[in-house]
Amino acid sequence: MDYRARLREASKEIIERRIVSDDELKKIADKYGLPLSTVKTLSTFYFHDYSEVQVCMGLPCLLKGAREAVKELERRGIKYSITYCLGYCNRGPVVRMGDKYYTFINDEFREIEESRNDYVQSQYEPLDRYITRGGYKYFEKFLSENNKLFILELLVKVGLLGGGALSRFKTLASSANRPKYLIVNGHEGEPGGFKDRLIMERNTHQMLEGALLLSLALNVDEVIIAVNERFRNAKAMIEKALSELGQYLTSKGLLNKLPSITVSLVGSPYIVGEETALINSLEGNRGEPRLRPPDPTEAGLFGKPTAVINVEVVAAVPILLGNYYEGKEAVIEKYFCITGDVDRPGLYREKLTVGLDELLAKAGVKEDIKAVFVGGISSGLVHSSKIRVRLIPEETRKLGVFLGPGVIIALSNNRCIVDVMLEVERFFSHESCGRCEPCRLGTKELVDVLERISAGKASEEDLKWAESVARTMMETSLCGLGMSAGKVFLDALTQFRDEFEEHIKGVCRAGIHFR
Ligand SMILES: Cc1cc2nc3c(=O)[nH]c(=O)nc-3n(C[C@H](O)[C@H](O)[C@H](O)COP(=O)(O)O)c2cc1C
Ligand code: SF4
Repeated sequence: MDYRARLREASKEIIERRIVSDDELKKIADKYGLPLSTVKTLSTFYFHDYSEVQVCMGLPCLLKGAREAVKELERRGIKYSITYCLGYCNRGPVVRMGDKYYTFINDEFREIEESRNDYVQSQYEPLDRYITRGGYKYFEKFLSENNKLFILELLVKVGLLGGGALSRFKTLASSANRPKYLIVNGHEGEPGGFKDRLIMERNTHQMLEGALLLSLALNVDEVIIAVNERFRNAKAMIEKALSELGQYLTSKGLLNKLPSITVSLVGSPYIVGEETALINSLEGNRGEPRLRPPDPTEAGLFGKPTAVINVEVVAAVPILLGNYYEGKEAVIEKYFCITGDVDRPGLYREKLTVGLDELLAKAGVKEDIKAVFVGGISSGLVHSSKIRVRLIPEETRKLGVFLGPGVIIALSNNRCIVDVMLEVERFFSHESCGRCEPCRLGTKELVDVLERISAGKASEEDLKWAESVARTMMETSLCGLGMSAGKVFLDALTQFRDEFEEHIKGVCRAGIHFR
């Protein structure tokens, strides 16, 4: 094996076995003939906050009492580390102990049923059932199409693909530079998001059919499904589905005519979901973003043209194709993961014409709300006076939010916006890969100022400084993480400046705090 292949195998083993101890890392270094420092840097990058017991401090978990779970662990003398987004955000606060996931409710830790392998198996849709409900109905018809790019146009029509991505994908499809890759992004690290994991676990065949259809449209040679290493059940379901699919395609004489599909675990840090970081990770490097240009569609995985597409988008393709061949309107139901101050947190599936206020009502908004993170904390904070909008791209764009991850986190009127933003910026600071200064230093600076604002020890000058730091982060960060960290801070400051100013004077009108 050459150096790159050895690095890749070592990285894969470290991630799959969650190797963190020096003894084990030495064995890995010897096994693959790599310097200890190289394998150590991979392990510390991917498992920087790892321990046997981890408590999620993502905003949905904090809103449901993560601090109380921490106090209970301390009371019991259990060592823990804090982390972000263990999944199961609608069941927060979430705590992982070994291989098991718990929620903390009524002063006790209860295992989350959805996290158990037997439960996941029971929810899986096998191939025969998928075929009965219309799976692979139009696959061979599509295979015979001369120009397959129209399915990308369908994705654009329903708002699941942007115009820029469409033209890059078209260039990729016609590129003679081979091999070409499609990576299905199953990382889903956004706190509050759990739709992609559920699709991978339950609608596995629909996602695989979508991946095959897209691979044909994009004219790629290989499909890699990149799954967050925390979603081990999802990987198991994909492997099961791939085995069923292999037999089915062989029986149809199609197996050798189609690109191969493999599934790979990638490290869990939030930044690894960014597409160039995902590519770095799959190559065996630290999962840090790359400078652009070049765009991955020109030079991505192993320097070859690569399309990275989200799980939900991929899984939507068979439905859109079916509608197209049956002459139906191109519409799609989008998944929304709703958490925070609502009575019925969970997964909601709605047409994109649904109103944000209607959606929140369905999830049982408890009381008057103050604001909502729409698209997650990386997308934007929307004041309650602006929630009467339909969730179509034209309207959400005006709000400056991006629906992609489908994460909606509601904040009740009792919440302290300074508290919330402090936790949001702690998340970004914890997850910043540190590659560029605006984000590495800026996230720390925002946490520092917010801590002082929260403690009533900041001045008007501090607020102005934080504003300029956030603006610089938005304008000069290397990737979306630093940009988002600046942008959401400005969202909060612009819409709730009065609350920030009151804190400076030592006043907080909110009824609930995280501490
Ligand atoms: C910090 C960061 C984290 C991201 N995490 C994810 C993720 O977990 N899953 C995902 O599909 N896209 C994620 N993205 C977006 C990807 O870079 C990329 O745009 C996406 O995979 C393309 O999917 P699309 O089909 O929705 O356009 C992230 C972006 C950033 C900046
Ligand atoms: S913006 Fe943050 S996460 Fe992105 S490359 Fe820079 S330091 Fe890393």
